[in-house]
Amino acid sequence: MAVDRANLSGSRVLVTGASRGYGAAVARALALHGARLLLTATEPVHLARVMRDCRGAGADCTAIVLDLADPASIDRAVEEVGATVPRLEGVVMNAGILGPMGPLDQADPDGIAHALAITLTGPVRVMQRLSPLIADRAGVVLVTSGAAARPGYGAYGLGKAGLEALGFMLRGEWAHRGIRVVAVNPGPVRTDMRAEAHPGEDPATVPPPSERVAPVLAVLAGDDPGPRVQAAQWGLS
Ligand SMILES: NC(=O)c1ccc[n+]([C@@H]2O[C@H](COP(=O)([O-])OP(=O)(O)OC[C@H]3O[C@@H](n4cnc5c(N)ncnc54)[C@H](OP(=O)(O)O)[C@@H]3O)[C@@H](O)[C@H]2O)c1
Repeated sequence: MAVDRANLSGSRVLVTGASRGYGAAVARALALHGARLLLTATEPVHLARVMRDCRGAGADCTAIVLDLADPASIDRAVEEVGATVPRLEGVVMNAGILGPMGPLDQADPDGIAHALAITLTGPVRVMQRLSPLIADRAGVVLVTSGAAARPGYGAYGLGKAGLEALGFMLRGEWAHRGIRVVAVNPGPVRTDMRAEAHPGEDPATVPPPSERVAPVLAVLAGDDPGPRVQAAQWGLS
């Protein structure tokens, strides 16, 4: 079913990790469709370029500092969201890091715990705190990866498997509110994280993130493709 992207106009959407990579591409695309944006990164300066681009496209845009490794930062950020908009029609939980890769029995346990704070327990806290602000019939996207639960992917594989579980659970628990919770796997996209994970790869062989944002826009515009989708199978933006 084709979803009308005009639905995004005026929609209030929070995007975490919007300073670069996939989150920045999602933010820019939402700006072009008239969404009201709340964009997060660990430092305000990281958001300057994306904020400029989104405002240049005519979007009303607010920068919010959020460090997912720090519970106090999460609580402050959600308070700021609530002081800025009364409700959110969309949330894109996109921020993440790789953390220690490789076999789990050889990975640094403190490094794993730190990575999971950013990729799993931080997002759980964000969703708990945000819950009263999320409008009925909102769209919530959790950005996942084909590496979820994949052997050899260390903290990243663990974190993404947990994030998908969070999505499946919230989808059921919020069904009575009509909230669409969907895990979207962008597939390989040309970002800093991709370069870090695959240092030998020619970046020109990997699509830019702007070519993989279509399912995120669709979910936020009202589509419900199910609990988990892959952007590469969705077609181009
Ligand atoms: N790139 C790929 O090929 C690929 C494939 C599948 C899935 N994904 C997923 O797509 C999402 C975006 O990845 P990407 O490739 O765009 O990565 P990226 O370019 O490294 O960007 C990561 C984003 O996360 C934010 N971030 C990092 N640490 C944070 C923290 N402690 N608290 C809050 N935000 C933090 C960064 O903000 P700062 O600028 O403040 O550091 C940045 O905006 C991730 O969830 C990733 O797992 C990517």
